[in-house]
Amino acid sequence: MTRRIFVTTALPYANGPFHIGHIMEYIQADIWVRFQRMRGHQVHFVCADDAHGAPIMLKAEAEGVTPQQLVARIAAGRPRYLTGFHLSFDHWYSTDSPENTRLSQDVYARLKAAGLICKKDVEQFFDPVKAMFLPDRYIKGECPNCHSPDQFGDACEVCGTVYAPIDLINPYSALSGAKPVLKSSEHFFFRLSDPKCVAFLESWLAAPERLQPQVANKAREWLSGRGDRALGDWDISRDAPYFGIPIPDAPGKYFYVWLDAPIGYLAALQSYFTTGKARARGEARGFEEFLAAPDTEQIHFIGKDIIYFHTLFWPAMLRFAGPPYKVPNHVYVHGFITVSGEKMSKSRGTGISPLRYLDVGMNAEWLRYYIAAKLNASVEDLDFNPDDFLSRVNSDLVGKYVNIASRAANFITRHFGGALRYSGDTGQLTARAAAQAAQVQESYESREFGKAMRDIMGVADHINQEFDARQPWVLARDPNRAAELQDVCSRALAGFKLLSVLLAPVLPAVAERVARQLFGLERPFRWSDATVLPERVNAYEHLMTRVEPRQLEALFDAEMGAPAGAGGTAARVAAAASASTTSAASAAAPAGAASISIDEFKRIDLRVARIVRAEAVAGADKLLKLTLDLGTEQRTVFAGIKSAYDPSALEGRLTVMVANLAARKMKFGVSEGMVLAASGEGAGLYLLAPDGGAAPGMKIT
Ligand code: MSP
Ligand code: ZN
Repeated sequence: MTRRIFVTTALPYANGPFHIGHIMEYIQADIWVRFQRMRGHQVHFVCADDAHGAPIMLKAEAEGVTPQQLVARIAAGRPRYLTGFHLSFDHWYSTDSPENTRLSQDVYARLKAAGLICKKDVEQFFDPVKAMFLPDRYIKGECPNCHSPDQFGDACEVCGTVYAPIDLINPYSALSGAKPVLKSSEHFFFRLSDPKCVAFLESWLAAPERLQPQVANKAREWLSGRGDRALGDWDISRDAPYFGIPIPDAPGKYFYVWLDAPIGYLAALQSYFTTGKARARGEARGFEEFLAAPDTEQIHFIGKDIIYFHTLFWPAMLRFAGPPYKVPNHVYVHGFITVSGEKMSKSRGTGISPLRYLDVGMNAEWLRYYIAAKLNASVEDLDFNPDDFLSRVNSDLVGKYVNIASRAANFITRHFGGALRYSGDTGQLTARAAAQAAQVQESYESREFGKAMRDIMGVADHINQEFDARQPWVLARDPNRAAELQDVCSRALAGFKLLSVLLAPVLPAVAERVARQLFGLERPFRWSDATVLPERVNAYEHLMTRVEPRQLEALFDAEMGAPAGAGGTAARVAAAASASTTSAASAAAPAGAASISIDEFKRIDLRVARIVRAEAVAGADKLLKLTLDLGTEQRTVFAGIKSAYDPSALEGRLTVMVANLAARKMKFGVSEGMVLAASGEGAGLYLLAPDGGAAPGMKIT
């Protein structure tokens, strides 16, 4: 029976480019989707930008553009990543769309009609200067517990205490610096605590196999009020100014971004149907009919940080909105990717830059394989370790897999004009292939990709051993043993075909080249090709190179971005940060270098920053590790200014930083921007500083 599956990945916030965590999630889902397609199932794989919310509105404002312009710019950058990593989404849309407005307002109206919407007055901090209510992370002040200054409104980063913004001592707005006032406003709530919601969720969570056990347990804890976030009614409205979808008949009120974001899954699906792409995939029904159909499977891939929204609010919204809305069949949760054991920062995209990965010429399929090899169906985190990456890719993909084809095909081309012939019984060969394929199929289906890769490499080991045991290089010297040589190589190539089919969900580009070029198929592999013995091969053409250590070095320890200037006498402003070995001055362009437009200049986000901490770095002669406060967040920057400054003299002073420089992993840690310093021909180095009155976070224009 053909399954009809609607698959999504979490909608990424449209306030920045993809980071490696996004790419990991998409790779996981894409492997599963490609596997289902190879099995002959109908899959509709969609995603969208999550466009709404206060952070995007405020970021756009800071950049002097409209939120729509900001979102459009981010969206324009998406295809490079999607193509580059072979991500086979059928459609990419946006939550800031007419479909999403209509669907969100519809779901809301239905929930209201079901008696599940209520209003309550909420007292919140209001910024009198910006004339807006402040989300918790835009309120700062002194920790009520340990009295550390400049802590966020929800928790203290120094002592870890969790509190409400009202508990802060001397709170101030991170946006304007103003003292916030408490102000009351009417909010709309989704009555999740209603007994019928609770009863529904209990049964939804209890369905066997719907969720991973850890995920269902976590959700049940919340539901019963035992967890770290007790379940209450859910505040779904925000007051203007807000970038979001207006609540009908409630002037000045908008849906909270987390209400319209998951509905964005359906908006993306609807737009996909409207464009005719669903029909092209063989789906004759319309959007609503497809959505409502009992045999349509709705599956969401997400990360562990957003379980709460996807296993409580989202199913309840769908259930009580009623048909054509239907609850998700599965929510598949993955852990986080870390890089060499370090957490990446979600908001700043530290870790591995996916674009840099492609730009330094690394093969996307290496990463797909590595991630597959380390993934399983649990919610565990996954670590990208450069040494492990190099050895796994080189030994498995190049050493075990690709190697079989290059060795066996060369004999076949040279001695038999491309013809394959098997001596004796091939029944056993196909039966074994069928058993191996069945086992791997099971692992793909249950998202045990690591096990699938281990089993596939086990098959590869076996093929290599059989090949070597019969010493084809010896057979090739004896014309009387030609039939034997042809048989050894044919079996190895049948094995290679099997491996290529089994690896195709992970290595789609390589597998397609193998199918078309080596085996002369006119289409990509299907799963059922695994057990069909090939009869001919074309001459082997190169399939995959090895990972070079220098590529990993380039990925992590890049030199400073700016090329060395041509020299000159004018004093110049030098990039003093992140410079690993180059001196600060040599990284600068001389004054009077090629002119740039004002728009180009505006792309550089220069900010006033307070140096809250400056420390020497063990083992580094030129670097200081600076902790910079930008008003709304703190950054770590490694700056090549040790020769000029005593760290203690820097603490507390203001300087200027480039805030939107791609974060970069250095030997000593991740540098998240750079500070600016002036230097001339001599040895001196002079940090820039704003005039008195400037405050952290101010933009330099
Ligand atoms: N916009 C919301 C999701 C709305 S879904 C209706 C959001 N966006 S996000 O950009 O912050 O995260 C998108 C996805 O990336 C989430 O599934 C999140 O768990 C995942 N990841 C974020 N950091 C990650 C890692 N370090 N590793 C793996 N996945 C991570 O949340
Ligand atoms: Zn504290």
